[in-house]
Parts: sequence; C-alpha cells; structure tokens
Amino acid sequence: MKTQDKNHTLGAWTPESWQQKQTLQQPAYRHPAALNSAVAELARLPPIVVSYEVDELQRQLALAQIGEAFVLHGGNCAESLDECTSDRVVEQLKILLQMSLVLMHGLKKPIIRIGRMAGQYAKPRSADLETRDGVSLPSYRGDIVNRAPFDAVSREPDPQLLLRGYERAALTLNFVRALIDGGFADLHNPSAWDLDFMRHSPKYEEYKRIVDSISDSLSFFEAVSGRAVADSQRVEFYASHEGLHLHYEQAQTRFIPRRKRWYNLSTHLPWIGVRTAALTDGHIEYFRGIANPIAVKVGPTSDPHYLRDLVATLNPDGVPGRLTLIHRLGAAKIDAGLPKLIDALGPLKGSVVWVCDPMHGNTESTESGLKTRRFDNILSELEDAFRIHAQMGSILGGVHLELTGDNVTECTGGARGLTDDDLAQAYRSTVDPRLNYEQALEVAMRIARHARLPAS
Ligand code: PEP
Ligand code: CO
Repeated sequence: MKTQDKNHTLGAWTPESWQQKQTLQQPAYRHPAALNSAVAELARLPPIVVSYEVDELQRQLALAQIGEAFVLHGGNCAESLDECTSDRVVEQLKILLQMSLVLMHGLKKPIIRIGRMAGQYAKPRSADLETRDGVSLPSYRGDIVNRAPFDAVSREPDPQLLLRGYERAALTLNFVRALIDGGFADLHNPSAWDLDFMRHSPKYEEYKRIVDSISDSLSFFEAVSGRAVADSQRVEFYASHEGLHLHYEQAQTRFIPRRKRWYNLSTHLPWIGVRTAALTDGHIEYFRGIANPIAVKVGPTSDPHYLRDLVATLNPDGVPGRLTLIHRLGAAKIDAGLPKLIDALGPLKGSVVWVCDPMHGNTESTESGLKTRRFDNILSELEDAFRIHAQMGSILGGVHLELTGDNVTECTGGARGLTDDDLAQAYRSTVDPRLNYEQALEVAMRIARHARLPAS
C-alpha cells in the first residue's frame, strides 16, 4: 500500500483542516461570532483527559485486537445535561462494573471498560428540520447543540451549550475518577455496586453466584500468595463519545510535545458514526490526524473498497489498538454482511479491533410510534458475531451497547418479557432505546455463557 502517497494526496493535517471538507451533521449556528468565541474559550480551558491515559487505552485495545482482552463499550445513546447527577452517574458506573465482572468471569480475560459518558452529547439526525402540526423547527441534535422541547427557543442551536457540555463532561469524569480512586470499584467490595431494585431481579441469583465465585478466587489467591491483589485489580475506566461536533473536538485538540503528536483530550476514545464516515469528508479528515485510539461504525452499506481505504487512511502504519471497527449490521443482515466486511480486509483483518454493536441495526417502531429494540434480536446479532468471527479466523474484541443502570422500559423482551404495551411505563430516552439494568446484565451473562461453548 502506498500510504505515503495517499497521505500526500490528503494534504497537510491540522486540527482545523477538516473545515476545508464537506462536513455533515453540523448545526447551523445563526451567529458565527458567538460560535467562534465559545470555541476559543473551550480551547483555553484545561483538557478533560490526559495523553498518558489515552496511550494506555491504546495499549489495552491492542490486547483486545489479539483476543487477550475484551472491550465493554456502553452507556447512553445521548447523555443529557440535566441528568448529570450523582445518582445517574453512579448507576451507570455500577451497571458497567457489574457487567464487566460477569464478562471477566465468563471470558477469563481482562475487560476494558469504556463508558459512552462524559461527552456523549451530540447526535446525528436523519433530517435538519422536524415538522409537527405544520410547524418546522431545527431537529434536536443533542444537549450540546440545542434542547429537546419542540419550541423555537429550545431548538435554536446555542454555542454556549458547547461550554455547558464540556463542564458537565468534566464533572462526570471527575466524579467517576473519585469513585474509582476512593475504592468504590474495588473487586473486594462488589456489593457496593448493587442497585436498590436489583434484588428483585430474576437474574440476581445468577449474578450473586458469579460475584461469590470471584470473591472466593480472590481470597484463595491472596491466601496462597500472601499478598493482596488490590493494586493489580484497580479498575480502570475510560470515556468515549461520538466525535460528531467537530468544533468541539477541534477545540480540545492539543499538541503533546512528549509525543510530538496532536491528541483529542476531550475523551479517550472518540468514534465516527455511520452517517459521517465518508472518506473524503470532514470527520475522517479530523480523525486521521489525532493520536487517540479511534473507532468507526460500519454498517450494511459499507462496501469492501471503502473498508480497505478507511483502514489505509486511518491506520496507514498498522499501529495495534489504533483503529476499532464497530459493526452494526442488524440481526437480519449480519449473516450476509459481516463475512463481506471481514473478507474485505483480507490479510489485514487482524489489524483492527472488531467490536459488535447489536443495537443500531435493530431499531424499529411500535404501532404507537415508539422507537424500540427487541432483546432477542440484540442477542441473536451478538451470538452471530461471535460465531462468524470464529469461523472466519477473526477475533471479536468487544461489544458496544446502549444501556442504562436505570429501570427504564425502552427495549422489549429479556427475562421479564417486556412487551410493546409495557414500554410506556418508563420510556425516558429522547433518542435511541436502551437496555435497562436487568437486560444489560442478562446480555453480559449470555455473552459469558456463550463464550464457554465451543464455536458451532
Ligand atoms: C449511536 O451510536 O448512537 C449512533 C448514532 O450510531 P450509528 O452511527 O451506528 O447509527
Ligand atoms: Co444510539
């Protein structure tokens, strides 16, 4: 591959060079001067993460790429500024920690915990305008852009929201770090991760058995080795969001002299969504120049040439852990679609981290117009992903899920058999439907169980 030539034709990269390209899904701000001043302020403020952590995540992702670790990437479809509260952050952290325990126990591998948190505020939309009863207003694009209520003031893109999003992201990550450093995530103390309502869950007994078995193993290891495993078991947690709003991402892009590279320090792992991943567009341009590990969503319409060019553009030197491909094909399309994606990379299929997102290809609407996803479809796509990767000599390095530690009713199915009619009880998402606490834990258990079975 003549990567040199390719980069040359792409031109010189700067944190702003994306502005020379077509860039989709950006808000139409009424006053460019107000945007410029918000971006200038963001660029002046300290970063949310540091380059050492970003490098460490890339090292860990390199292990997932070769099957020696497994990625659990999950959280809200969109965070909201109002839900940046102690309870919500704790609940989200608890469910991710619990799932990671279950996965670690079943897969017998380190789990790389990555939250869709601390910056997951910008959303791609299928249309620029939303029309209700003959009134058209800008679509809601996430709390960092505008607000969800359908009135002209809420829907006007406001550059000051970039700063509000940055602040809430910093508050969120600060709290997560303090909880983790303060011992909340200590493996000796998993009962601290129980949620009030979980004891009534049909899955609680199974979860408890797994936790007890891990506690027994820890005690056994500490008894025979004569030392505590606390240090080696210190839980690490990373933040991730869709790097959709490029003015926000650009403002937090910093040159790190130690590495002589530019880093996006608004998050550890930014990703490109499926709607903005065209090779010649602004998002690919911005992402190719940053030193972070990055991810790109790929779907049923991503063709083999595109995939090869994508890998050559974003990871020309084949750096392990640099590029994650998150496939989101849908339960009905994965059988035909995934082998084509894996085949497209040929000998380079092991040069990326493959992650399965079984959510975004399985969204449907109920008769009453609610967006939902069926638990069985989510599970079926996941199981197919494990099977197809194994059959093709490729490695599934992780999962990407939309979930909440809350007791919502947004996806149907699961141990309680939620139906379309149950969804109205606690449907809170303003965007995509999430697995609730119980469904999320059940997914983790099913992955863990499945991984112990021989590939069929
Ligand atoms: C998302 O992850 O919320 C999203 C919009 O995904 P995709 O780009 O895969 O549709
Ligand atoms: Co989503």
